[in-house]
Amino acid sequence: MDVAEAIKQRRSIRAFRPDGLPQEVLKDIMDIALRAPSGSNAQPWEFAIVGGSKLEEIKRAFHEELGKQPNFDFPLPQQYPEPYSTRRRAVLAKLYESLGIDREDREERRKLQLRGMGFWGAPNAVYIYIDRSLCIQDDTVLIWPILDCGLVAENIMLLATSHGLGTVPLAQVIAYPDVLRRILGIPGTKLMVLGIAIGYPDWDNPLSQFRSDRLQLDEVANWYGFD
Ligand SMILES: Cc1cc2nc3c(=O)[nH]c(=O)nc-3n(C[C@H](O)[C@H](O)[C@H](O)COP(=O)(O)O)c2cc1C
Repeated sequence: MDVAEAIKQRRSIRAFRPDGLPQEVLKDIMDIALRAPSGSNAQPWEFAIVGGSKLEEIKRAFHEELGKQPNFDFPLPQQYPEPYSTRRRAVLAKLYESLGIDREDREERRKLQLRGMGFWGAPNAVYIYIDRSLCIQDDTVLIWPILDCGLVAENIMLLATSHGLGTVPLAQVIAYPDVLRRILGIPGTKLMVLGIAIGYPDWDNPLSQFRSDRLQLDEVANWYGFD
């Protein structure tokens, strides 16, 4: 599969078959993903690749945290100003509609949130984390090494797509980083950047058919020097 095809095919998958991935497949993906560029080639990323009983332990622990205030190492935006708020609402509305869920139905929305915290049923996950010394200096969060992590994350997701696998990047699964550090034995000097759920998609589930929209190129790009 070429890169353009992998980019076109990748979408967030939120329904998985339960069977875990062979470690060899995950190794193949991760080995190649490491070719991502990074500022000064610092390669700031570190990974926890999780499956089996360890992932179950994380799922259970997160379930117990539900309702508590999330404690992200890198806080989520407090609010989405326009036009981002409209885009955010649109993708959620489309998701609920595709599932036949009424947006006002708080209980159904809560159930959906629970499924997300359970990695949408994925049997494996890749956590990306980073050393605090590189990304927090003089109380300022430096975005550059985090940007590097985003690049390696996309590599992982595209490579997974080329293997016929599904992925979804998840903030939900790093909402309680202390729980992750405890279960995975990761020191407090490491900060959780992102979780990626990964597995074989359950294509029969309507959630797997969901396709998010994009703006047109003309809406986001300006051209210079092409007259
Ligand atoms: C940094 C980041 C965090 C995300 N967190 C979540 C999440 O917690 N739960 C979820 O269901 N999707 C999450 N997503 C997936 C986005 O909702 C999704 O990428 C977006 O709607 C575009 O859809 P697509 O990935 O299918 O193209 C996240 C994506 C990114 C890049």
